[in-house]
Amino acid sequence: MFNQKFIIKPAGEEHCQYAETITNEMEQSAQARGTGIAKRSPEYIKTKMREGKAVIALTNTGEWAGFCYIEAWGHGKFVANSGLIVSPNFRKFGLAREIKKEVFKLSRKKYPDSKIFGLTTGAAVMKINSELGYYPVSYSDLTTDEDFWKGCQSCVNYPILMSKNRSNCLCTAMLYEPKT
Ligand SMILES: CC(C)(COP(=O)(O)OP(=O)(O)OC[C@H]1O[C@@H](n2cnc3c(N)ncnc32)[C@H](O)[C@@H]1OP(=O)(O)O)[C@@H](O)C(=O)NCCC(=O)NCCS
Repeated sequence: MFNQKFIIKPAGEEHCQYAETITNEMEQSAQARGTGIAKRSPEYIKTKMREGKAVIALTNTGEWAGFCYIEAWGHGKFVANSGLIVSPNFRKFGLAREIKKEVFKLSRKKYPDSKIFGLTTGAAVMKINSELGYYPVSYSDLTTDEDFWKGCQSCVNYPILMSKNRSNCLCTAMLYEPKT
């Protein structure tokens, strides 16, 4: 039933048409939850799709259902999974879990030697990450790449992050370390 309804795969140029829907939903969902997020523009999302650094979920009729993207930091020492979003129409069907599995596969394929991490305030994401082998860490275990942390500037909680010298904030950090 699930596999008949949704197609989950690495995104490409042909999915750029969904970029605006995705960023609008990211913003509306964050407002509804009253949490901070790193805001992303449709152009940024399109770039991730074109670079083969994103996973998209569509229904079998071509309706957008979910999205997540990856980016490498610290000269490839780390790869972050970011921007997970499932359309409100399709939540609680197990879609986030399937998207995260696909994103994990993509991360391992593109960056086999990198540590994989994510920042989240969401219980669902923490649960899925744990199932995939991520564990909670302090921010000092994450990348020190300035450009990654600049991504937090658009979050409402950025002053909290900076007041703690980037050592802590409202998001839980979770890390996967590849087996040597
Ligand atoms: C969070 C979100 C991605 C979950 O998507 P989803 O497709 O509904 O999640 P799934 O159906 O795959 O659920 C995975 C697990 O998390 C649990 N879960 C889902 N939503 C949850 C919630 N709001 N609170 C607690 N647990 C939740 C499910 O029960 C499921 O566990 P189970 O299979 O053991 O019952 C979706 O609600 C969303 O897009 N929210 C807005 C954006 C957001 O919060 N993104 C994450 C930012 S880090």
